[in-house]
Amino acid sequence: MEIIIKPSVVEAQLETAKILRRQIQRKPASVLGLATGSTPIGVYAALVEMHQRGELDFSKASTFNLDEYVGLDPKHPCSYREFMREHLFGKVNLSPANIHFPDGLAKDVPAHCAEYEAAILRAGGIDLQLLGIGREGHIGFNEPSSSLASRTRIKTLTRQTLQDNAKCFGSPDKVPHHVITMGVGTIMDTRHCLMFATGEAKAEAVARMAEGAITADLPASILQMHPVCTLVVDEAAAADLKRTDYYRWVYDNKPDWQRV
Ligand code: PGA
Repeated sequence: MEIIIKPSVVEAQLETAKILRRQIQRKPASVLGLATGSTPIGVYAALVEMHQRGELDFSKASTFNLDEYVGLDPKHPCSYREFMREHLFGKVNLSPANIHFPDGLAKDVPAHCAEYEAAILRAGGIDLQLLGIGREGHIGFNEPSSSLASRTRIKTLTRQTLQDNAKCFGSPDKVPHHVITMGVGTIMDTRHCLMFATGEAKAEAVARMAEGAITADLPASILQMHPVCTLVVDEAAAADLKRTDYYRWVYDNKPDWQRV
C-alpha cells in the first residue's frame, strides 16, 4: 500500500484528484468507481475545476457508484445519486448513459445486485476505485462483520453510520437502515483502490486499516491484500500511523515517472 500524507486537507484533496486525473488522461475510457460522503466533496470540486480548465474530459469515461440507500427515490435530496449530481455529474461532461448506480427502489434486490455486478464486468471492470473509510472501518457500506469475499448486496447500517450520515436527513432515525453496496470482494476486484481520508475522527480506523490485522471487524483492512492500493491522508487522519517516517521518505523519493 502506498501511503501519502499531505500537510492539509486541501493538499490531500488535490493529490487525490490528480491521481484520478492521471487515470482519465492515460485512459479516457476509464471505468471509475466512485464514493460519496463528506470527505470526497473537495476531491470532486477539484475535478470539476480541472474539467473547467480543459484538463479533464469525461466524455468517454464511465462510473459505478459504491452504494445507495434502499427505499429512497433517486431524486430524493439525500440519495447518493442526487449527491453525485450536485457535486460532479451535473458539472462535468460524463454521458448519462455511462453513469451507474445501485437502484434503491429495485423490486428484486438480489437480481438487481447480480445485474450490477454483471454491468461492471461488461464495462471491463473498474480501473480506479475511489474509497472513503467509516469510523468503524467500512468501505462502501461493508460494515464490520461483512464477508471479506462479499459481492454487491443489501446491508444493514450500524448505529454509528446512522449517526454519521444523519446530517442530510435531520436525525439518525430518519436515515434508511438498509443500503445496497458493492461487496468487499467487488472492491478487491478493481485494478487500483484509492482511499482518501481526512480528520482526526478517521485516525484510528486508518491506522488499523493500514497497519493492523486483516479482519472482518475492520473490512477496510483487506486492502492490505490489494495489489495496487493508494491511501491519501491529511496529518490529522495520519496521527495514529506508526511508520509515518518511512511513508514520507518513500513519497519524497518517488521516481518522477511515478508522480502525478
Ligand atoms: P464520510 O464517509 O466521508 O462522510 O466521513 C466516509 C465513508 O463512510 O466511507
